[in-house]
Amino acid sequence: MNTVETIPELRQAIKQLERPLGLVPTMGYLHEGHLSLVRLAREQSASVVTSIFVNPTQFGPNEDLDAYPRDIPKDLALLEAEGVDLVWMPSPEIMYPEGFQSWVDVAEVTQVLEGAQRPGHFRGVTTIVAKLFNAVQPDKAFFGQKDAQQVAVIEQMVRDLDFPLEIVVGPIQREPDGLALSSRNVYLDIEQRKAATVLNRALKAAKASYEAGERSGDVIRQTMTKTIQAEPLAKMQYVSCAHPRSLQELKEIVEDGTLLSMAVFVGKTRLIDNLVLGPNH
Ligand code: PAJ
Repeated sequence: MNTVETIPELRQAIKQLERPLGLVPTMGYLHEGHLSLVRLAREQSASVVTSIFVNPTQFGPNEDLDAYPRDIPKDLALLEAEGVDLVWMPSPEIMYPEGFQSWVDVAEVTQVLEGAQRPGHFRGVTTIVAKLFNAVQPDKAFFGQKDAQQVAVIEQMVRDLDFPLEIVVGPIQREPDGLALSSRNVYLDIEQRKAATVLNRALKAAKASYEAGERSGDVIRQTMTKTIQAEPLAKMQYVSCAHPRSLQELKEIVEDGTLLSMAVFVGKTRLIDNLVLGPNH
């Protein structure tokens, strides 16, 4: 496994790799969620490139950029064991040199849910992902359903800006008790860790009511809200029952693919989770 830092080094290394080329973008501190994407990329591509970059522009002023967990030696060992061909670890100065002033901004689908709570977050995500796509020029790029809105935003960007690649989405990886894997789970203490299962419990309660015939968006949102409010250590930020592409809230669940999603604080840790409803999910 080769590791590179600069863009000229990256370009040189990529020339040696067989196509099709799969890219798995990450911010490091890798867990089974990331590794499941690497495996998917391995299955679907002749060569796999993983990027590790804690992207400062997608963190808000009061978010956890400085505290964001990092463990590069462990990440490299995990990626090596998965058979990754090339790891790109650029410095912030390489991605955002002095005088940097160009941004990719997806207008509408970024305004709701995570985008409403984290102004500027998706502008940082789309800008860095566009830069990663331009530098690596992969045939396929792999993203997790864990960040459902991120997927919707990136797919919109790829369509709008004609990036010549395919986006592949991998399923959410969970702990045995249902908590979605996240680098931020390390912030939780033992009590909070137990309380954090409330996100998945709320999604499951909503799914059960959907499967029992409920089709009202309001009732489904209420079901999730009530479950979260019953957990004393949890503080709900939003729950949503939305169209899977526009992410607009639904009055009635009609379509296959309705996206249930939420953001919940457990202590100071902000957790997100989601689930797609419908016979094909
Ligand atoms: P990061 O949070 O490191 O996640 C990298 C990829 O792993 C994302 O596509 C994310 O959706 C996926 N992932 C995280 N937890 C997962 C889980 N439990 N199951 C399945 N997939 C999971 O997302 C980012 O980094 C950044 O925004 C990035 C796209 C790299 C741009 O900076």
